[in-house]
Amino acid sequence: MAWSHRTGRGLNAAFRLSHMTNKKDVLRPSLWTPRPVDETIAVYADWADNYDADVSARGYKTPDRLATALKAHTTPDVAILDFGCGTGIGGAALRRAGFKTIDGTDVTVEMLDKATKRGIYRKTWHSSPDNMGFDVGAYPVIIAVGVVSLGAAPPQTLAPLVAQLNTDGLLALSFNDPTLNDQSYIDALDAEVSKGRVEIIFRDHGPHLEDVGMGSDVIILRRL
Ligand SMILES: C[S@@+](CC[C@H](N)C(=O)[O-])C[C@H]1O[C@@H](n2cnc3c(N)ncnc32)[C@H](O)[C@@H]1O
Repeated sequence: MAWSHRTGRGLNAAFRLSHMTNKKDVLRPSLWTPRPVDETIAVYADWADNYDADVSARGYKTPDRLATALKAHTTPDVAILDFGCGTGIGGAALRRAGFKTIDGTDVTVEMLDKATKRGIYRKTWHSSPDNMGFDVGAYPVIIAVGVVSLGAAPPQTLAPLVAQLNTDGLLALSFNDPTLNDQSYIDALDAEVSKGRVEIIFRDHGPHLEDVGMGSDVIILRRL
């Protein structure tokens, strides 16, 4: 299958598959929709125990794609913040890619607890949408895998996240197909570029939840 958010083929295939089989059904079809932050946190709190099994059963590829892409743009000893770390799947992918110093934060305690228990993060903390809990410039690299996304953090999260970087800092993030089809996220990214706050140094569309035919863009931004 060609991975194209322009045609939306991946997403359509996912919904087709969801009607064909329960085993490879699309993940929580109601997930990818805008909702108030309290509801978002409740969704992930409820999902925490089953999240890893649910996404791995559907071939969750974006974390490893992002970690591999990041390797070409920074060094293994750099301090990385896994923003919206969830249960720690992104941190684990960074570890596999050779990164050694990784901190994590998330707004959902139940997800964050799973990440902390992995024992791969230098430190973790509970953040809130209004307070990310770290100083500007504290991290030369931030990743946000599936976080600034439909069904998770709103597009308005992107600008403050970019603002946490010093010049030349990197933000590696992903937009899945539903997010790529939501103009508000595209506009948020375009605004950061057109205002001269970032440049896109890497962008690639590939598998997200591979077994249900959903893709994602992995994007690396450099702070200007
Ligand atoms: C789809 S999960 C991705 C988790 C992890 N990055 C991964 O790839 O498995 C989205 C995560 O974003 C978190 N989240 C939602 N809004 C957030 C915000 N404003 N700030 C930080 N994390 C947020 C949720 O609690 C959830 O853990």
